[in-house]
Amino acid sequence: MTVTPTRTVTLTDDATGKSWKLPVLPGTVGPDVIDVRKLYTDTGMFTYDPGYTSTGSCESAITYIDGEQGILLHRGYPIEQLADKSNFLEVAYLLQYGELPNEKERDDWVKHITYHTMVHEQLISFYNGFRRDAHPMAIMCGVVGALSAFYHDSIDIHDERQREIACHRLIAKMPTLAAMAFKYDRGQPFVYPQNSLSYAENFLYMCNSVPAEPYKINPILARAMDKIFILHADHEQNASTSTVRLASSSGANPFACIAAGITSLWGPAHGGANEAVLKMLMEIGTKDKIPEIIRRAKDKNDTFRLMGFGHRVYKNYDPRAKVMRETCYEVLSELGIKNDPLLETAMELERIALQDEYFVQKKLYPNVDFYSGIILRAMGFPMSMFTVLFALARTAGWVAHWQEQLREPDSKIGRPRQLYTGAAARDYVSIEKR
Ligand code: SDX
Repeated sequence: MTVTPTRTVTLTDDATGKSWKLPVLPGTVGPDVIDVRKLYTDTGMFTYDPGYTSTGSCESAITYIDGEQGILLHRGYPIEQLADKSNFLEVAYLLQYGELPNEKERDDWVKHITYHTMVHEQLISFYNGFRRDAHPMAIMCGVVGALSAFYHDSIDIHDERQREIACHRLIAKMPTLAAMAFKYDRGQPFVYPQNSLSYAENFLYMCNSVPAEPYKINPILARAMDKIFILHADHEQNASTSTVRLASSSGANPFACIAAGITSLWGPAHGGANEAVLKMLMEIGTKDKIPEIIRRAKDKNDTFRLMGFGHRVYKNYDPRAKVMRETCYEVLSELGIKNDPLLETAMELERIALQDEYFVQKKLYPNVDFYSGIILRAMGFPMSMFTVLFALARTAGWVAHWQEQLREPDSKIGRPRQLYTGAAARDYVSIEKR
């Protein structure tokens, strides 16, 4: 969509008195942007924004976050309503096409996804190449990128139909690949998908079913799993989504772009935080250790961060964390887990942190990762699988952004510049003279 400037701002170089007028573009909601696309041509200067704290990298209509208010909208729909009323595949459709599907659109979408859940049988040998103790995220980085070696009929990014099939395949196969990584970790045989099951049911079935006995789906846990997928589906231009967009801007195939997103998500500052939160809660152990943890988190000389707290955008409670906390209670009570020590510690940690001046002043609140690990652990997932589940769900958002970028009429390769502070030009010195 071409946005029309509503006004200009003036940039003045105080040293020379030269001024430049820069157009200001308005969004539907949220901050306006200063269009600096011609800044270097006009001024010979770059903008400088490491970490992109004040930079809009693209125009997007998929997700809107109001960090001050703690609001998250997917195509205008609040995350709380989607988590309560929708399901993951419907949200994936919404992210991709911009509208909630009618019955026929929904049935077609579910059918396409369902009939792509199996993976090429030769992919199994990729798993056997990993050590049994390989981190499942290492496996996912490898096997998702390898999909481009098997599905040559859906890698032409200039073919709309091939792009659509690639999206179906990625959304459909991530649960199968993730469940295979889980089974490989446990030394159990892989379980093929069952097309009679829903998306979340199928995932739990592929993870937990064993040949030795029938597996009974728990509808409460399946619903909780689906809700957790919804909460992780998309989140604007976060690090991994921006990685997918940057990889896509070079024309890389969809499977390579999603594999790039998986690698970026793995970091503990991003999608790896759910695993880091549980490790932190286990290290804390009892509540009396909390004051020391809070002290360390506030100590500028200590690299320790309170995992699951803080966010680049949210300066209020992450709306996903609220839903996640409610889901936590539902799952623990369904599983008959009373007074879970980790939940007790997490609740006490949250209570103390939210009263502490440091966290209040820096507007640090629990984020989506603070409670998710407690639920996933209670559901029987090892910590190493937590970020895999995040990647599984975030694939819905990644492919929506991948499609949106490729549909952008003036999309070009992402190629940032820099502030160079290295050596100025100098001549080579032979080793005798060094
Ligand atoms: C996700 O971007 C997304 O949308 C991501 C995500 C998504 O859905 O894609 O929401 C998923 O990644 C959630 C975040 C998960 N990560 C964690 O929980 C790790 C712990 N959090 C921090 O690492 C940190 O809060 C970040 C990385 C999440 C955000 O870092 P920023 O925006 O770069 O903020 P910052 O590091 O500049 O922090 C601002 C200040 C700093 O203090 P000063 O230098 O200003 O004195 O707040 C402090 C930080 O030291 N701070 C923390 C803290 N987070 C920030 N201090 C202690 N504990 C923390 N968790």
